[in-house]
Amino acid sequence: MSDLLTVSGLSVFYGASAQAVEEVSFSVPRGSVVALLGANGAGKTSIMKAVSGLIPARGEVTFDGAPLGALPARERVKRGVVYVPEGREIVGQMTVRENLTLGGYHLPKRERKTRAEMVLDLFPEIANKADRHAWRLSGGEQQMLAIGRGLMAGPRLLLLDEPSLGLAPMLVRRVFDRLGAIRRESDLAIVLVEQNLAMTMRICDELHFLRGGQIVGHRSAEELRDPAARAEAVDAYLGAAAA
Ligand SMILES: Nc1ncnc2c1ncn2[C@@H]1O[C@H](COP(=O)(O)OP(=O)(O)O)[C@@H](O)[C@H]1O
Ligand SMILES: [Mg+2]
Repeated sequence: MSDLLTVSGLSVFYGASAQAVEEVSFSVPRGSVVALLGANGAGKTSIMKAVSGLIPARGEVTFDGAPLGALPARERVKRGVVYVPEGREIVGQMTVRENLTLGGYHLPKRERKTRAEMVLDLFPEIANKADRHAWRLSGGEQQMLAIGRGLMAGPRLLLLDEPSLGLAPMLVRRVFDRLGAIRRESDLAIVLVEQNLAMTMRICDELHFLRGGQIVGHRSAEELRDPAARAEAVDAYLGAAAA
């Protein structure tokens, strides 16, 4: 079976000389979770934005067998490529339910409603706050809302940018457990960008390590279950600061 997403020779430039991503290639098998790990500035967000069509890039991105070319972001969303940005970017002055509605704006009303119920079932923490303003949610709840809004769009590939950023470890665990549940119930594929290796390993199948805009290493989650192999990979690719 072919991969759902193939990224080939992807390069991102900011201005004429600043290259943030250099010839990055990876693929995402259907239904799998592929993680991109790397320190701040490694190019993770740039890759996600390029795949979702939010910034221009060189190279080729193929989704479900079709090259995405220069397709604008909204068209990619319609095909099922959905980006959940770092920093959440939910609308504080709107209610939880209104934020969810935004995520499914391109869907017929009936489907939007069904999906909103599905999302609220998945995240009971925000379900009983559905009519509150989003700014009143805790950090973990805001992250659940951001992921929920992504799920509203009917994704086939969810691009999750540092969902653990700024969350207490207990909340991170809750968010990741929920992602695991979503994964088990659907054939949704995920590209997960993280700095946190231990948490990432709970749900991912494969990991790519990034540094200075390049992929410098690749491991399966299976390989990294061995503590010695994990220590070796952290040492080789992430450095002491990320351990
Ligand atoms: N809008 C921008 N303009 C100029 N440089 C940028 C911009 N966004 C990111 N960069 C630079 O590109 C590199 C990669 O950034 P980014 O993709 O955000 O990395 P990460 O998500 O891994 O922290 C960094 O050196 C960063 O400073
Ligand atoms: Mg980033």
